[in-house]
Amino acid sequence: PETGCLSIIVLGASGDLAKKKTFPALFHLYCQGFLPPEEVHIFGYARTKISDDELRNRIRGYLVSDRSSSPSEDVSKFLQLIKYVSGSYDGAEGFQLLDKNIAEHEFSKSSQEGSSRRLFYLALPPSVYPSVCKMIRQYCMNKSDLGGWTRIVVEKPFGKDLESAEQLSSQIGELFDEPQIYRIDHYLGKELVQNLLVLRFANRFFLPLWNRDNIDNVQIVFREDFGTDGRGGYFDEYGIIRDIIQNHLLQVLCLVAMEKPVSLKPEHIRDEKVKVLQSVLPIKDDEVVLGQYEGYRDDPTVPDHSNTPTFASVILRIHNERWEGVPFIMKAGKALNSRKAEIRVQFKDVPGDIFRCQKQGRNEFVIRLQPSEAMYMKLTVKQPGLEMSTVQSELDLSYRQRYQGVTIPEAYERLILDTIRGDQQHFVRRDELKAAWEIFTPLLHRIDNGEMKPIPYKPGSRGPAEADELSAKAGYVQTHGYIWIPPTL
Ligand code: BG6
Repeated sequence: PETGCLSIIVLGASGDLAKKKTFPALFHLYCQGFLPPEEVHIFGYARTKISDDELRNRIRGYLVSDRSSSPSEDVSKFLQLIKYVSGSYDGAEGFQLLDKNIAEHEFSKSSQEGSSRRLFYLALPPSVYPSVCKMIRQYCMNKSDLGGWTRIVVEKPFGKDLESAEQLSSQIGELFDEPQIYRIDHYLGKELVQNLLVLRFANRFFLPLWNRDNIDNVQIVFREDFGTDGRGGYFDEYGIIRDIIQNHLLQVLCLVAMEKPVSLKPEHIRDEKVKVLQSVLPIKDDEVVLGQYEGYRDDPTVPDHSNTPTFASVILRIHNERWEGVPFIMKAGKALNSRKAEIRVQFKDVPGDIFRCQKQGRNEFVIRLQPSEAMYMKLTVKQPGLEMSTVQSELDLSYRQRYQGVTIPEAYERLILDTIRGDQQHFVRRDELKAAWEIFTPLLHRIDNGEMKPIPYKPGSRGPAEADELSAKAGYVQTHGYIWIPPTL
């Protein structure tokens, strides 16, 4: 691995994302020894004029960890690595000062062999990305003759539609090369999302089954049991499709549906993801159900007549040899009855079924991304006992039970480590982003223009009943009277 000075600069240091995700992820990496204090310095940058200690105090409360390896002493040591610089997002002065601070730190550690590395994490609204990137490019690039690099990490939303996303991409693309740009989609850092590649291509079981001959439909579902929770202003501008489906769920779809990559090289994997996105057919209006929870507009930051969906179910169809005719039901909603994210692959009925009269459910393979990571296969077995009757059961791989004592890293933790290591596999490439926007832009424009309206639903419900009807129409058969209960330890 590379050695030498590593400077991590968190821009937007006093914002929500930085406090809740970026700094805690850095802290966990620190505790595991990935950020050795003799090499690493962390800088917070934002407009607010506060001292180093004030920033440290603001983030301290988020650094609690349930991991035994991080007692309070670690928190203090970690916080000492952080320095704060204040400045605007579009003026030279702040960035010159930032550069001076980084350089001083690099200089003080220059007795070390190795390169100088600068990682800029933009925990900022995308409206300032172009100016911030320009400033970094102009004033803060790594100047080490020893080599090293400058990388930038950006967060969604990358634009609002195809046109604005492409514009943003070219603005950033003029300043940085693709290998320097890390577009984070934190779903790609989740354990079971990362597992998809292994599951699909390292198991003989799945190879012959994973296609239109055997699979009837696929659901990729995200549910949250809370509303927009103080983020109404941001959310109303974007809506659930841009917030969850166009990025997080679509990334999951890619990994479920793509062909086998030539190798595990990041570019080979991303090539396959782009191909599958390019094979998605235009979305049909009658394969979309939108919802908005009652009370959403009560949020003072949400306009009284907002047409923004907080729930959507959209069927995507992939036009290729493997998937023609198989609906991918993408569903996401806020203020629903539960919090979970899962992939549900439902198989076709057994042909010539001799147990038909007993009405068993279909085989399903479910990957529970969260909470309680698990994979289970729903299958029919003989009801134990004297009678010859059938019952639904499951082969269950529940992570907490199977991998006791193993800590599953946070998505951000893993992804930030990848940015330091220079591994872009779990980041969104520019052409991938473009293809993702191409799929959803026509639908989003129709919603924005008020041509499609969300159906009201009760907070704490399953969402509009029309969504269940849509899934049923697409071929999904719900198994009644069966429910998987995650095993408790
Ligand atoms: C974010 C969305 O990207 O993902 C939020 O902006 C959402 O609206 C969050 O709550 C969900 O992430 P997770 O990891 O809790 O499923």
